[in-house]
Amino acid sequence: MPVVKSREEKINLRTGNLSLIHEPVGYRKNLSGRMDVSPSELKFRKPCTQDGAGIWDLVRETDVLDLNSAYCYLMLGKYFPDTCLVAEYEQKIIGFVSAFLLPQNPEIVFVWQVAVAGSMRKKGLGTMLLKELLKRKACEKVRFLETTVTLSNVASQSLFCRLARDTRSRLEVTVCFPANLFPKSNHETEFLFHIGPWQRELIK
Ligand SMILES: CC(C)(COP(=O)(O)OP(=O)(O)OC[C@H]1O[C@@H](n2cnc3c(N)ncnc32)[C@H](O)[C@@H]1OP(=O)(O)O)[C@@H](O)C(=O)NCCC(=O)NCCS
Repeated sequence: MPVVKSREEKINLRTGNLSLIHEPVGYRKNLSGRMDVSPSELKFRKPCTQDGAGIWDLVRETDVLDLNSAYCYLMLGKYFPDTCLVAEYEQKIIGFVSAFLLPQNPEIVFVWQVAVAGSMRKKGLGTMLLKELLKRKACEKVRFLETTVTLSNVASQSLFCRLARDTRSRLEVTVCFPANLFPKSNHETEFLFHIGPWQRELIK
């Protein structure tokens, strides 16, 4: 597969037509100016088992993400709180990210699912969730982020391109899980986004 491209380049995948163009490095929007609620009213915290049902609801409401069992989200709260995150507003979970450090390489954090409530999207919250994760003590040695995205999920592609741009990182794209590996024939190929290395001071 093709595909190692620098951040300003267009990414072309032979298997599809993913067209992502990074904007010039240094371009940055003022997140606080884009939020309906001030960031100070948002609470970012580690999830606990009591959050499992709320996270399950949030993921279900996305209509895009694979909805895992409620058990899975309870387990993330119990065993992976250091690398998972919820965003809370008025006691409701409006954002969630699940991730883990690769057991074979703890310099890489793998981001599994990111979800932002419909009414809160395109305001910078997804980006804030990722950066809050990377600022965590558990991620202090992390220099790379990996995740998988599908061709149809433009929001997800844009989110991770934005992170690569903000952190002035390289973004490499390869095939991770081809469609034929999935039991359901209508599952799209999952492409691996490999982002980094970054300078820690750029994670603000
Ligand atoms: C993907 C998702 C988490 C993004 O959250 P968000 O809070 O809207 O993200 P941000 O506001 O931080 O935006 C990040 C970038 O993505 C872009 N973006 C967000 N949604 C977009 C969309 N629907 N189409 C195109 N670009 C989009 C933003 O414009 C921004 O890019 P920019 O800074 O260059 O303008 C959210 O859309 C979501 O929950 N989707 C459903 C679940 C999902 O697909 N998760 C990702 C796969 S795990």
